[in-house]
Amino acid sequence: MLLAVLGAGTMGAGIAYVAARAGIETRLHDAGDEALAGGLRRVEGDLAGAVARGKLDAAAAEAARARLTAVPRLEEAAAGADLVIEAVVEDMAVKRGLVAAVEPLVGADAVIATNTSALSVTEIMAALADPGRGVGMHFFNPVRAMRLCELVIGLETRASTVAVAESAARGMGKETVRVRDVPGFATSRINAVIGNEAFFMLAEGVASAEDIDTAVRLGLNHPMGPLEMADLVGLDVRLAVLGELRRSLGDKYRPAPLMEQYVKAGRLGRKTGRGVYTYDPEGNRVS
Ligand SMILES: NC(=O)c1ccc[n+]([C@@H]2O[C@H](COP(=O)([O-])OP(=O)(O)OC[C@H]3O[C@@H](n4cnc5c(N)ncnc54)[C@H](O)[C@@H]3O)[C@@H](O)[C@H]2O)c1
Repeated sequence: MLLAVLGAGTMGAGIAYVAARAGIETRLHDAGDEALAGGLRRVEGDLAGAVARGKLDAAAAEAARARLTAVPRLEEAAAGADLVIEAVVEDMAVKRGLVAAVEPLVGADAVIATNTSALSVTEIMAALADPGRGVGMHFFNPVRAMRLCELVIGLETRASTVAVAESAARGMGKETVRVRDVPGFATSRINAVIGNEAFFMLAEGVASAEDIDTAVRLGLNHPMGPLEMADLVGLDVRLAVLGELRRSLGDKYRPAPLMEQYVKAGRLGRKTGRGVYTYDPEGNRVS
């Protein structure tokens, strides 16, 4: 199997890492040279981290690294791929343009998947001449640690397409669920609502950010609090998800004004060093 991952940001680099580790020949592409180099550095850092923690031996890390190629040109990245997973910005026009550009570069049997969190898979894949080859493969952040890949089945998605995506996800060590293409699928919808509620509560002064997170972690047994989770996901990504849910499902999903304000201020979470909390350049929380 030859995999092309388009977009070398948080998710693209994470998907490329698990794929290369799982023995899949992987090409990683990004429209930006800096972003591509950064994605590759993150994969290399994750491999070195796994070796340092004794989870991977050095030879296996080297073999995984050798299976991964960073490819600046889309034409070269996609050529001959059996599976393409796009993980570019959460923007319908960008995703539709990209899948349409990729389709003529791959064979008739190739599957084209999107890692969108909340956009319509059906609408993205309607940009293809053959929408039946399109499917959602929704991975979670951090990809190396999160066990689920939600398979999102669009209106036109063929059963054989789902089978390819399912087998690839399982090959990467993920469990899968099959979900109809409804806004927010099964996971993003619930997660966006919990995170949004936490922002409303923070703005209302119900409790400090730390205490809201601790309440949810210890009282509800979630592994992370909703505000630390929002910082990890990226407040801009969260805002885009809520905007889409609101457009499709109504005002129940209206983003908390405080979240919108943080995004306007450039406080996007861990990736910019500041969101609800503050982080050092390595992404460790400092306050
Ligand atoms: N961050 C998360 O927790 C998370 C979880 C699940 C799914 N997702 C989804 O994954 C996708 C990517 O999210 P992310 O957090 O990795 O974003 P990100 O901003 O970290 O990375 C996006 C990358 O896409 C690149 N890009 C933009 N347009 C491009 C194009 N036309 N061709 C190639 N590359 C292009 C950008 O240069 C950037 O490096 C989004 O659809 C998002 O909704 C994100």
